Amino acid sequence: MKKFLLALAIFLVPCISLFAKLSVVQLRTENQINPIGMDVKVPRFTWYLESEKRNTLQKAYEIRISTSENFRQMLWTSGKVESDQSVLVEYEGSPLESNTTYFWQVRTWDNHGQSSGWSKTGSFRTGYFDPADWSADWVGLGFEEDENRSSPYFRKEFSSTKKIKSATAYITARGLYQAYLNGEKIGDDYLTPGWTAYQDRIQYQVYDVTDKVKSKNALGVVLGSGWYRGYIGFSGQKNYYGDEISFLMELVLEYADGTKERILSDDSWTCNYGPILSADIYNGEIYDARMEMAGWNKEGFNQTNWKAVQIKDYGYESLVATYNEPIRKQETFKPIEMITTPKGEKVLDFGQNLVGWVQFKVKGKSGDKFRMTHAEILDKDGNFYTENLRAAKAELIYTLKEGEQTYEPHFTFFGFRYIRIDDFEGDIIPEDFTAVALYSDMEKTGEFASSHELINQLQHNIQWGQRGNFLDVPTDCPQRDERLGWTGDAQAFSRTAAYNFNVHSFFTKWLRDLELDQREDGAVPFVIPNVLGKDAAGSAGWADAATIIPWDMYMVYGDRRILEEQYESMVNWVGFMESNSKDHLWNTGFHFGDWLFYRPDDDNDGRAAVTDKYLIAQCFFAHSVQIMIHTAKVLGKEADQKNYEALLKNVKDAFLKEYVTPNGRLVSSTQTAYVLALHFDMLPESMREDAAKRLVENIRSYGVHLTTGFLGTPYLNHVLSRFGYDGLAFELLLREKYPSWLYPVTMGATTIWERWDGIKPNGDVQVPSMNSYNHYAYGAIGDWMYRNLAGIDTDPEHPGYKEFVVKPLLGGGFTHAKGALDTYYGKIVSEWKLDNGQFSLEVQVPVNTRATVYIPSTSSSTVKENNNSISSSQSLKILGEENGYVKVEIGSGIYTFTR
Ligand code: BGC
Repeated sequence: MKKFLLALAIFLVPCISLFAKLSVVQLRTENQINPIGMDVKVPRFTWYLESEKRNTLQKAYEIRISTSENFRQMLWTSGKVESDQSVLVEYEGSPLESNTTYFWQVRTWDNHGQSSGWSKTGSFRTGYFDPADWSADWVGLGFEEDENRSSPYFRKEFSSTKKIKSATAYITARGLYQAYLNGEKIGDDYLTPGWTAYQDRIQYQVYDVTDKVKSKNALGVVLGSGWYRGYIGFSGQKNYYGDEISFLMELVLEYADGTKERILSDDSWTCNYGPILSADIYNGEIYDARMEMAGWNKEGFNQTNWKAVQIKDYGYESLVATYNEPIRKQETFKPIEMITTPKGEKVLDFGQNLVGWVQFKVKGKSGDKFRMTHAEILDKDGNFYTENLRAAKAELIYTLKEGEQTYEPHFTFFGFRYIRIDDFEGDIIPEDFTAVALYSDMEKTGEFASSHELINQLQHNIQWGQRGNFLDVPTDCPQRDERLGWTGDAQAFSRTAAYNFNVHSFFTKWLRDLELDQREDGAVPFVIPNVLGKDAAGSAGWADAATIIPWDMYMVYGDRRILEEQYESMVNWVGFMESNSKDHLWNTGFHFGDWLFYRPDDDNDGRAAVTDKYLIAQCFFAHSVQIMIHTAKVLGKEADQKNYEALLKNVKDAFLKEYVTPNGRLVSSTQTAYVLALHFDMLPESMREDAAKRLVENIRSYGVHLTTGFLGTPYLNHVLSRFGYDGLAFELLLREKYPSWLYPVTMGATTIWERWDGIKPNGDVQVPSMNSYNHYAYGAIGDWMYRNLAGIDTDPEHPGYKEFVVKPLLGGGFTHAKGALDTYYGKIVSEWKLDNGQFSLEVQVPVNTRATVYIPSTSSSTVKENNNSISSSQSLKILGEENGYVKVEIGSGIYTFTR
């Protein structure tokens, strides 16, 4: 009987799959595909559906979880749940165990009566849930440290005689580590364990090393100072979190016979110095290849002169599993040119301002030395320019061993496009140098392209600004002695960031640090992790990262839990503003204001676009309170919602009284003042049209130029579009003369600059004390390009793109724009073209979502979908005509609209 059933199944399975057109793909556990080492006790599952049938929605799902890959014994089955939820579905089974691999599958049913059958298997491995799960010792240097803080090397040998089922390594460090098993690097991530509010939490990484274990083995670990105790912050400080580095490691061996063994970091390890004579994030690395210890991380190495280690008593309370994607190697670049500068410097140009390091191959005599320095630009005369790096040396000093050798740095990174090589006796062969970009391994989710070449380059620059500055924390810049998680920059850019890459886990992790670093009185520090001290906190538009980013993550990923988790932090930040206000007017404390707004050199005419800092503060106060109202509503906290509604009214009333004349003029006559007042609805409806006109006049008075800084820029075009000035928004977008988004593009920028005029039209550079060529904040225009120009937007009532809006914006001479976005439901595309005046719009709607599409046309009777009049279409619903658009609702599928 069994055999018969099996034969029947073998026969039927292909038949079923022939007819079943619904399939489930991309199984994610907590935003990641098959994560290893996860300490979320109640993980959430996400999948998406594929079906060729239009208008397909999930009607029901069933999840099953097991510790065995063949699902023989079930840990949890959800049963068939009538629900269209396919994103972030919570696990509801019995508590998960530490260090265990779980397998899960899901099957779904749709509204057409199709069922998917069980999906392919997804998996996740838990980390340690409890500090008591750890047994290893923190291990540090056993001898007196040298002045340079050379990198210590640690090693230990062990044998494993039984047949291995699995081997899992748990590793972290106070400092940075690279670990090896039998000579091979463990994991493909770098600058681990990443940067968190170390005083409270340190992430550990978990690696599957099953295929690296042999019968005789050696483990090796090298450490660097990193963010933990290296130079950090711009005042020359070091040792912020401690002055000694150490690591913690457990290798869990599970044998085929069911037994387990752990190889631990403990006092049986030995240590020594090696070739890394100094390693520092800002300053770079000093490396002497002659001191390499061939085979130090392999079994059988002669370690007679290695010394005992020291055990540290740090405990395990601060250890947490890694939540976000680690830093990995990404794109590589070969030099596009070798330059001899007017000063005679030997320079290689990689053609792209990037963040990472250079791998190289050299040949020479033992003891030859050279220095490699990194820079973002060449100056006006074509010479290598490093002044804007301030105190960061950003150099590599390398001493050769005999013969040919290859190298890449370990515990540093650089922001650069050019390298200069000094003091090298041999020939520089450009092909032997490769620039490697390093950044958090976020999934690339967004694509924006258009018919305008310079705008495409701007999009390129925005994405590279993000790549370079999303290096475990969202940094302001990656090259000078700063590289800090500036909150203002992060909030300004977070929505744009979430189009280009999946930043869900990246920001979730960073927001946890934000909460931990938040002051008891609720003030949010300027930078997260905070290395600037307790007083550096509470600036309007910076601290609001605490409310803005969780809300953005909710909008984009539909993640309600992030609102729950951050709620207290959000409440506390708003509480800080409230308690520092008098009669609801917040006009105290230090603020950065509209940082880097337009300021002409010889300002006799008072054209500098200075916005009153407290006016700005009041606007962000209101904005954060508004977010609290939305958040309290989502979380069902009715009493809070009411309180915040009352507070918002008071905050806006105080704004009107203090900053708006009875005729509706703002005390600061700047673009940023009007932009913030309008975007955050600070003015009563009756005043808004006039205020928008004043904004427009202001822009025109500058010869159609923007004058906004960090805080006004993200919303400028949104406000213009909202009040019917799309044409002007296009003009600003396409302006090539300073100040504008395209000015740096015309000057050859490959990333977003910190300042509108990082390099002046005459080629002079801006003040070196603050002039980065890789700062993403002004790249926040990307949000408008995706949302308005390509036209892909969220529907706040159905976050995470469960339902969304497609509303392309024609104008500015564009004949084509395309936005594509990978969401948790699948790919959304909005691509429009004007081909000899013939308009077409292609829209792709993922299964289990719906879209409201706005087709630029004044009459639905002329609009066609796939060459058929939409009036007769069964697969869409005409919602009406609105301001030059025909509005339709569609379900999943690919649609081509013409008119
Ligand atoms: C950073 C900025 C930051 C600012 C504070 C600068 O040094 O580079 O991006 O937001 O300080 O205003």
